[in-house]
Amino acid sequence: MKALEGVRVLDMTHVQSGPSATQLLAWLGADVVKLESITGDITRQQLRDLPGVDSLYFTMLNCNKRSITLNMKSERGKEIFTELVKQSDVLVENFGPGAVDRMGFTWERLQELNPRLIYASIKGFGPGRYRAFKAYEVIAQAMGGSMTTTGFEDGPPLATGAQIGDSGTGIHAVAGILAALYQRQTTDRGQRVQVAMQHAVLNLARVKLRDQQRLAHGPLREYPNKTFGDEVPRSGNASGGGQPGWAVRCAPGGPNDYIYVIVQPVGWKPISEIIGRAELADDPEWATPEARLPKLDKMFQLIEEWTIRHDKWTVLDKLNAANVPCGPILSTKELIEDESLREEGMVVAVDHPERGEFLTVGSPLQLSDSPVEVRTSPLLGEHNQEIYGELGVSADELAELKTNGVI
Ligand code: COA
Repeated sequence: MKALEGVRVLDMTHVQSGPSATQLLAWLGADVVKLESITGDITRQQLRDLPGVDSLYFTMLNCNKRSITLNMKSERGKEIFTELVKQSDVLVENFGPGAVDRMGFTWERLQELNPRLIYASIKGFGPGRYRAFKAYEVIAQAMGGSMTTTGFEDGPPLATGAQIGDSGTGIHAVAGILAALYQRQTTDRGQRVQVAMQHAVLNLARVKLRDQQRLAHGPLREYPNKTFGDEVPRSGNASGGGQPGWAVRCAPGGPNDYIYVIVQPVGWKPISEIIGRAELADDPEWATPEARLPKLDKMFQLIEEWTIRHDKWTVLDKLNAANVPCGPILSTKELIEDESLREEGMVVAVDHPERGEFLTVGSPLQLSDSPVEVRTSPLLGEHNQEIYGELGVSADELAELKTNGVI
């Protein structure tokens, strides 16, 4: 038994934001039927590493789903879709603005077909000025407060490698869908769930709007920046939060030989001992957070003079032994090979019928009564017969639909 067992999701998503949401729903136990155009989700063919085989882009975002093809621009396709909607609990899509309406299925029409349907849409933007615009990951980062606050003061705005605009929005969509499913238990009605990528990124950049308002009352003392205008500046690797932190270099000096160290008030004494500067623990120039605040750059320099002589794993263990929070910068290679992530089910090997074994990132949601078993992504239209058969479409008609470009 899984948490979402019995929930049928009609998944019209493509690319990343939508598929990341429906993959989580599938891992929570929903029966996710991915409805694709007859050429399939474009990512099946993007960034291919092996010729003729679904890309990792696709396989890593579409596990545990079933796939059907359906041409939504054909009359028979629309009829079949109508039947699918009647049988589904949730419809999820992330097409460009207005695409589902243009297919002939407005929210009003969908409600008529199935009043219990939860209809979730991911778009780039909310219903305001930007509503008709398409969006991709970094556009959401640009317009949601992430790029302006990422990077160094003297450099350009930067995109982050974490896909907060796409997969970040997907997680927000899952939260909305689960709440709607829960509310349906009392109302017996579905509802519209709308999530915008700009909104999701802004939600994640919430603390930067905190700092924007703090600026009105003086400089942000927790930031490493020396001067402040009327906008929150990019602050490099400082979080700007309550506890100072920085990425300091380690041996042997490669691109990922860094460790991020946080100096809590209680951490200074053990750190000063570990770095061989025990005398600074009680030195009034260094002893308190207030004394250190104006010279955080010097403090991290002192720490780096020690870390640069050790590799990041040694530093990790030594600092943690003294209860000092820190985190080495783990490269993608280190992550994919990390034994503890394998043991925890966060890096999982999956068998794919055409590509053989591939690795994917498992579910970060771990429920004691609803364990996740990661299964392969489906081939394009792999479940046409199974699912259209359930709708009463005969084998002869299936063949005809294929010939006519309906499936
Ligand atoms: N049968 C027939 N036509 C189909 C179909 C199907 N099963 N599925 C999709 N289509 C059609 C749509 O009807 C649409 O046609 P129309 O514009 O003539 O009405 C067309 O495919 C294109 O859809 P669209 O989503 O606009 O694709 P795109 O490649 O031009 O844009 C995005 C891609 C990602 C920019 C856009 O989908 C978008 O802005 N999505 C919302 C934000 C988002 O999720 N972005 C991040 C993606 S990771």
